Amino acid sequence: MQSIEDVRTNLLDLITASLTPREVLRSVELKSLYSQLTELAPELRSEFGKAVNALKVELESAIDARELSLDNDDVEPLDVTAPWDVNTGPIELLPTEQGTQHPLTKELEVVIDIFTRMGFDAIESRQIDDDFHMFGSLNFPENHPARDGYDTFHTQESFIAPAHTSTMQNRILKSGKDKLEAGGQIAAISYGRVFRNEDVDTTHEHTFHQVEGVFVSEKATLGDMLGVLRAFFESYYGQTLKIKTQPGYFPFVEPGLEFMIEKPAALGGNPLSSGGEWLEMLGCGMIHPNVLRAADIDPEKYQGFAWGGGVERLVMLKYSIEDLRYFESGKLAFLRKFV
Ligand code: PHE
Repeated sequence: MQSIEDVRTNLLDLITASLTPREVLRSVELKSLYSQLTELAPELRSEFGKAVNALKVELESAIDARELSLDNDDVEPLDVTAPWDVNTGPIELLPTEQGTQHPLTKELEVVIDIFTRMGFDAIESRQIDDDFHMFGSLNFPENHPARDGYDTFHTQESFIAPAHTSTMQNRILKSGKDKLEAGGQIAAISYGRVFRNEDVDTTHEHTFHQVEGVFVSEKATLGDMLGVLRAFFESYYGQTLKIKTQPGYFPFVEPGLEFMIEKPAALGGNPLSSGGEWLEMLGCGMIHPNVLRAADIDPEKYQGFAWGGGVERLVMLKYSIEDLRYFESGKLAFLRKFV
């Protein structure tokens, strides 16, 4: 049996030499430490467990460092915090041909383009907001447990880093009220960055992007909503899709639904499987009367639908990207694939 110290030395050496250092986390040596742990007498377990965890943390930071240096091998170092003259000598503009749009910016433009062609206005969402827009106007009662589901960041002054783009609903509804009452309709999307204090993994980030849609008229129906969403997804993925919904709970819609598409063969779905793989793409539903009331719109006269979902998820499916964290990582190897 290898000691922790032996395993540590071996694995750190491996990381420095490897082109795929992250694989070390799945190595037999590391696993064997975990199985040793289960065989230890209970009184020895805690100390050994702590040491193994500390080793894992150390390995992870060595892996991060190694990956960074692999990414940056062919890039001239630039100290972005230094004054211009340290890096470049006399004032000189950075060459624009080396910069590119971030893949999310590009894809967001595609999304916005599809919705504006359907007649929706597009506005960017806020990155700092308040309790009323995050919860109150969206029919979350005070102290309701549904608030906890949003893992919201608060500032000491009680401002909120929005956990979804639904924070824009009340503003969209209020600003469209006159048009609605003049016989028109409200049709807008809102897009932007949102924040959640949750554990980060391949499909979760503390910072990500959403697109929200709001439509209100005298006779909007759930059928209209499904039509809009189908048109959007089929246009974005450039093919016909199978869609379905299942019930979902959001205080600001009634009924509330989760909208799903079947993973198409062209995007990695299995063409031979009869059941198909259903992917949940967004939350949606008919706007709750209390949400309309909070914007001073009469729910007896008008009705609407809303939806909201993550942008990264859309893009990951389109390009078979396996880790959501790449988007915010600044990894050049990743970004350059989208040039
Ligand atoms: N805001 C919800 C979320 O982020 C999604 C949603 C938007 C659901 C609009 C219904 C209507 O989870």
